[in-house]
Amino acid sequence: MKLILLGPPGAGKGTQAELISKKLNIPHISTGDILRESIRNNTSLGEQAKKIMDQGNLVSDEIILGIIKERVSLRDCKDGFLFDGFPRTIGQADGLKKLNIDINLVIEISLPEETIISRMSGRRIHPPSGRSYHIKFNPPKIDGKDDETGQDLIQRDDDKPETVLARLEVYKKQTDPLIDYYLNLQKNSDLKFIKINGANSPQEVSEEIFRSFE
Ligand code: AP5
Repeated sequence: MKLILLGPPGAGKGTQAELISKKLNIPHISTGDILRESIRNNTSLGEQAKKIMDQGNLVSDEIILGIIKERVSLRDCKDGFLFDGFPRTIGQADGLKKLNIDINLVIEISLPEETIISRMSGRRIHPPSGRSYHIKFNPPKIDGKDDETGQDLIQRDDDKPETVLARLEVYKKQTDPLIDYYLNLQKNSDLKFIKINGANSPQEVSEEIFRSFE
């Protein structure tokens, strides 16, 4: 199965992607996690990406499509995969089509703007795995530590309120049009599109998503 998770910053894409990927036994491909890994490894891509990400802007379609092309060619993608945070522009969605990748399911996770800021300020992440927690809504078992490895959790540099606002504007202009793009594609192909209310608890959101697999 090939899936896309769409939604604004903080909607819960990463949280749900982790659960879906375990349930379906397919890799979770997060372009944000891949870029953050490049930053941690001090690569030239990481250096370029950091400036853009800290401003809340998008890395170029060309770079992102190059990353995706390489990632989906790996053997673990042969039975499907889950894209989280990709595509993010019409150009990226067109690029995906050109790679002859047929998506089966697009899941839009929606969330009102006012909830987004409070979610971001409480988010803590485990950089090596990309696992995401929230100090109030989804706390780790031990304060400040990853549940699986016990390693330290950190706050993301782009979770400052002013950067979150910039990311939201970019989402509205560049990513939101993908909802109509995939709704139209649904009319002319086997692709299925579902919309989920991301304001419910993480468990309710995942139960709703899993019901759509039945
Ligand atoms: P990326 O890492 O993809 O960030 P994003 O899309 O803005 O999404 P987030 O990771 O912020 O949120 P999420 O929806 O995953 O929410 P989460 O589950 O963590 O991208 C970062 C940057 O990289 C971009 O700005 C851009 O610069 C660049 N980039 C990445 N991909 C790109 C691309 N394709 N093209 C160009 N540039 C790209 O949840 C958020 C918080 O809420 C957590 O604390 C979580 O525990 C909590 N939470 C989750 N679900 C719930 C719930 N149901 N109830 C209460 N709390 C919840």
